[in-house]
Amino acid sequence: MDNILVIGAAGQIGSELVVELRKQYGSEHVFATDIKLAPPDVIEGGPFQVLDVMDDKQLIHFIIRHKITQIYHLAAVLSGNAEKLPTQAWNINMDSLMNILEVAKMVEEVKKVFWPSSIAVFGPTTPRTNTPQLAVMEPVTVYGISKLAGERWCDYYFNKYGVDVRSIRYPGLISYKTEAGGGTTDYAVEIYYEAIRNGSYECFLTGNTSLPMLFMPDAIQATIQLMEAERSKLSIHSAYNLGGMSITPDQVYREILKEIPGFTISYNPDFRQAIADTWPESVDDSLAREDWGFKQHYDLEKMTGIMLKEIRNKLN
Ligand code: SER
Repeated sequence: MDNILVIGAAGQIGSELVVELRKQYGSEHVFATDIKLAPPDVIEGGPFQVLDVMDDKQLIHFIIRHKITQIYHLAAVLSGNAEKLPTQAWNINMDSLMNILEVAKMVEEVKKVFWPSSIAVFGPTTPRTNTPQLAVMEPVTVYGISKLAGERWCDYYFNKYGVDVRSIRYPGLISYKTEAGGGTTDYAVEIYYEAIRNGSYECFLTGNTSLPMLFMPDAIQATIQLMEAERSKLSIHSAYNLGGMSITPDQVYREILKEIPGFTISYNPDFRQAIADTWPESVDDSLAREDWGFKQHYDLEKMTGIMLKEIRNKLN
């Protein structure tokens, strides 16, 4: 029987992943942790504990005590915030990953680790359309540098110590349950909230900035699918490209406009525009489809309907 530890359970991915994992593995087998309190359904739906992944002693104690066999380490400082506090962000993103890799190496019961990478591993010298799995990688953000270094460390621990780490280069993730914080792709979540709250949105990227995005249910399904895949089928030991849909703020705006007539948008690009300009517009994820059967179920139209409905419910 698997016992699963989720670190970052209060975050955008974690708060939804915990709920899904509990459906599949049983509530009592999924241990949700974070340094802050998680949403009520995460805290009440199974074990929840405040745990700091930076504290390696507390971490190893927790893992042994609860006989953990799988770890999802989702805690990180995102791209925009990392640019404001570069060394702190580097330390948090790297030290936390190293703590996890070391624990997975030392504790035999830990069989698998999931750690998210990002399209931020690419940079201005990478081909921007249909970016291949293997490409020039010269990220210019602290976040991207930490994710690229992290990928290399995952690969190293797999080759050198046999630690089974699995990873996805997530595109921007769009969800209604928990808002992301401090990312470059966050506009694609904010725009839905502001459309409902105010009927207008000021976007921090230009209208034609195309970035790959994925609706959270597709991301959660992909993550669990990758973790459940047979190791022998996985040709990538660092992180898989995942594309989703390539969309611009203008396209999201027009889709919302169909449901909220009178919704207006203005553009006031900030420092995050320079980050977005170095990331791919679209990503080739054929390996994820071939190796472990990734499928995308939501397009912009289908996602927009759900986003508006769920955010309306939430705000009422
Ligand atoms: N969505 C993240 C960000 O914008 C990228 O992984 O920082």
